[in-house]
Amino acid sequence: MIKHLIKGGTLIDPSRGINGSYDLLIEGDRIKRVDEEIFEPEAEIIDAKGLVVAPGFVDLHVHFRDPGQTYKEDILSGSKTAVAGGYTTVVCMPNTNPPIDTPQTAQYVVAKANCYGLCRVLPAGTITKGRKGVELSDFYSLKEAGCVAFTDDGSPVMDAGIMRKALELSVQLKVPIMNHCEDDNLARGAINEGEVSALLGISSRPPEAEDVLNARDCILAYYTGGHVHIQHLTTALGVDIIRHFKEKGAKITCEVNPNHLIFTEEELLRSGGNARVNPPLRRKEDLEALKKALSEGIIDCVATDHAPHAPFEKGRVDSAMPGIIGLQTALPIMLNLVEEGVLSLEDMVRLMSANPARIIGVEAGTLEEGAPADIVIFDPKKEWVLSEETNFSKSKNTPLWGKVLRGKVICTIKGGKVVHKDN
Ligand code: DOR
Ligand code: ZN
Repeated sequence: MIKHLIKGGTLIDPSRGINGSYDLLIEGDRIKRVDEEIFEPEAEIIDAKGLVVAPGFVDLHVHFRDPGQTYKEDILSGSKTAVAGGYTTVVCMPNTNPPIDTPQTAQYVVAKANCYGLCRVLPAGTITKGRKGVELSDFYSLKEAGCVAFTDDGSPVMDAGIMRKALELSVQLKVPIMNHCEDDNLARGAINEGEVSALLGISSRPPEAEDVLNARDCILAYYTGGHVHIQHLTTALGVDIIRHFKEKGAKITCEVNPNHLIFTEEELLRSGGNARVNPPLRRKEDLEALKKALSEGIIDCVATDHAPHAPFEKGRVDSAMPGIIGLQTALPIMLNLVEEGVLSLEDMVRLMSANPARIIGVEAGTLEEGAPADIVIFDPKKEWVLSEETNFSKSKNTPLWGKVLRGKVICTIKGGKVVHKDN
């Protein structure tokens, strides 16, 4: 059996409260041993001096556009981008063409990802057939085919009756129901309703569009006992709503997109269409509330909402497709928050690995002996620029394009196999 020995790194495993200088031995596809000093002559050595060794990151929200829109991304380019960002498990959204609303499409995603073997790509199935919001998908057969969650992401589930049924089923299936919370009747415009929309004279979508559906879903989770996962939370009031219903014992988890932690609506003035995303970039007060919620543990995990689009689909703010790529920029953004003192490095790793893994109930996000050897090794200080040379995605729609970023993935290991190496 092939053995790898990661030596001399700072090992952080929040699942076991480990944070210190440890060696880690991999045998085959599993973690064999974690100890202060390991000697194993048969193992290939990976030198991690000066680097951080952590569980491979888990992203509950990526768009790989496969099947149907593979000019933006596909399962291969998406997997390469994921592992370059330190992710070894991702949940891909079902707003593909066709959508992931049949077991056949789910199996296609699973089989294609397994065939490349770079990253664990787990599909989310749609909540409703065709993402039309009218008729529930067949959750049983979709779960059987490998779906680990359900969402109509890109669109909200507007019908409270359907959402209630979905949550009731989630109790039986033990699978989270995720919702893109933005009420269609309020969220008609392009960007946040505020100073920038007024200045530019661009149509807008107010924060209450998000808050009303967030509140509705928390209430439905409270009554049904179902597990709701609120996707890409962006508002200060949304934090209060979630805190309130968590305190009442409702089964609620939520995620934040790193871009919503560093950019306000003003970024639209600099980056134009590349700063357009749904839900939109909001105000400084919202951003501060999200950071506080992260540090207090109200927000459960970081999810990139990696949403690739081609250059011709971006352009002007008012006509641009919403979405920002994010798999390779998440770590630098989060390390910046660590630097700012918002989070400890250990908390950051927990929000990017153990916590999201727990939400979907997969064996990941831990460096425990016997666990799959899914590992990221990163240099928290290394500076680099996201450019044609370093980008693995087919798309480049991010305000961070061409910017100097701090913190780089040096090596990613999935199931004991090195799947990404810096340079
Ligand atoms: O900005 C977004 N882009 N928000 C979504 O919910 C969907 C996503 C996409 O698919 O591009
Ligand atoms: Zn969404």
